[in-house]
Amino acid sequence: MNTAIGITVTIQNTKTPVVEPIIKPFDLQIVKAPKTVKYNDINLNEWREYGHVKTDTLWEFPTRLREGGHSNEYHGNFIPQIAQQLYERFTKKNDIVLDLFFGSGTSGIEAINMGRRCIGVELKQEQVDFVEQKFTPEQRVTDVRTICADSTSEDAKEKIQAAIDILGKEEGKDKAQFLILHPPYDDIIKFSDKKEDLSNCASTQEFYEMFGRVAKNGYDMLEKGRFAALIIGDKYANSQHIPLGFGCMAKMNELGFITKAIIIKDMQGNERAKGKTANLWRYRALAGGFYIFKHEYVMIFQKV
Ligand SMILES: C[S@@+](CC[C@H](N)C(=O)[O-])C[C@H]1O[C@@H](n2cnc3c(N)ncnc32)[C@H](O)[C@@H]1O
Repeated sequence: MNTAIGITVTIQNTKTPVVEPIIKPFDLQIVKAPKTVKYNDINLNEWREYGHVKTDTLWEFPTRLREGGHSNEYHGNFIPQIAQQLYERFTKKNDIVLDLFFGSGTSGIEAINMGRRCIGVELKQEQVDFVEQKFTPEQRVTDVRTICADSTSEDAKEKIQAAIDILGKEEGKDKAQFLILHPPYDDIIKFSDKKEDLSNCASTQEFYEMFGRVAKNGYDMLEKGRFAALIIGDKYANSQHIPLGFGCMAKMNELGFITKAIIIKDMQGNERAKGKTANLWRYRALAGGFYIFKHEYVMIFQKV
């Protein structure tokens, strides 16, 4: 606080000096206590300062962020700006983020960059081994815990609980404060040959059923009142649009999550089809009566 308190001495008839304190009112600055909601650190008293935090349902990122420890070696990862936006809105410093499809660990890298912690579950052991190298031994103790498990399983749940107990011990946290679900988009990209892999389902119905089991584990591990994000795109099969996003949203709602937002994320920054491939898709679209996907969804849910 920048307060000026001065003293003047007035001499009256050269007798006893009278001491008068002077407080200049215009020098007093009232510093308000930050006004925040329970699930983030945004100071609502200074809401105009958060121009970088998105509040609209159309997210456009012209390029993928490559700084801050991020690389783009994994086909099927999301761009780091998604994690940044989500953490700003739905987490506080030191919160524990749970990611049940960890992949190349984008959510974990960004958690560290932003002073959050992360537990990442991934099915493929080689991927877990690779991702662990992105973190220092100290970070692997205090900030990021990687778990190799099938996220649909009870085994995964037990390992997650053990990791939360270690990370949250000091603050008495026994659940995660934010959940990220970025599943395979059904069979669009095949991640492994494992039968537990959601990209290996025999049908889209089976995909929804397995996704529902992962989401149930996430629901159980998430603190009440907190938020979850589902990042997913749709697909075409047998000449028709298969709305994977809305199918998975229905699974989230069945569990008790309420839907807070359906955000359309422009995919131009991370699409790979260029040149001849892009032309081929344009030809196919014109010939087949469909449209080329340029968006995916970031859906926001709350456990109430
Ligand atoms: C779309 S990628 C996630 C990418 C991640 N968000 C990133 O930025 O790197 C989906 C991941 O889920 C994993 N996966 C598939 N089925 C799984 C399961 N049953 N349990 C855990 N992970 C699974 C795949 O191996 C793949 O790495």
